[in-house]
Amino acid sequence: MRSFFNFKNKEKDFFNINLDLDCIPRHIAIIMDGNGRWAKEKRLPRTLGHKAGVETIREIVKECGNLKVKYLTLYAFSTENWKRPKEEVTALMKLLIEYLKSEIEELHMQNVVVRYIGDISRLPSICQKELEKACYKTQNNNGLVLNLALNYGGRDELTHAVKEIARDIKNNNLTVECINETIISNYLYTKDMPDPDIIIRTAGEQRLSNFLLWQCAYSEFWYTDIKWPDFKKYHLRKAIYDYQNRDRRFGGLKQE
Ligand code: FPP
Repeated sequence: MRSFFNFKNKEKDFFNINLDLDCIPRHIAIIMDGNGRWAKEKRLPRTLGHKAGVETIREIVKECGNLKVKYLTLYAFSTENWKRPKEEVTALMKLLIEYLKSEIEELHMQNVVVRYIGDISRLPSICQKELEKACYKTQNNNGLVLNLALNYGGRDELTHAVKEIARDIKNNNLTVECINETIISNYLYTKDMPDPDIIIRTAGEQRLSNFLLWQCAYSEFWYTDIKWPDFKKYHLRKAIYDYQNRDRRFGGLKQE
């Protein structure tokens, strides 16, 4: 099934995007970068950049739901983000709480399932509480899975997995011989999710920054100079369009 979108806006490059609705990526993961630079450009405090970034989250979650994307993982707070000034960390935590509180009914109505990856035990207890509340409330929905990466780092996730595997071997619940890629995947925070089909990064940088290191083995990468607060649903559609026009071979050969 094909769907034609007409964009009557300044992003003229993106009009008439022809998406194949039968080939929508199952899992989209996004590194939401550029909030600070967006704010700086406008001579605003960095926290207002993050606030504007939350508006983009609202739009992109809705659009992913409309397009029947199954999983959307957002890199909201990395294990390295603790190095930022205390005020910025506090502001980010506050935004997370506000988002969960104000958006939960709407997300529930949109049939979204809220989940998270990362070690949330280091987040303020109110964040943990709101997060668990949102996950619990939406657990039986069957629409888009909104997966928030919070205090998440790929290396931290792998370290955690190795420790759990070692513990299970020590307790005779696992043997060294049976370890394979599937077993390792099952020890990751993402254990019951498919690997991301596409990883989007905004604001021009072209690196992974410790995001989904194991899971991205065959993900397509898509970068844009657009800063996260300026990223709109037509940019998402453009990313999906480009994804649909790539040749994914997973190490094999192109099908003739
Ligand atoms: C990167 O921009 C963005 C982040 C580190 C945080 C992303 C968080 C939000 C959009 C809001 C809070 C999250 C939720 C789920 C409500 P940057 O600050 O690194 O930008 P810069 O590179 O331009 O400085």
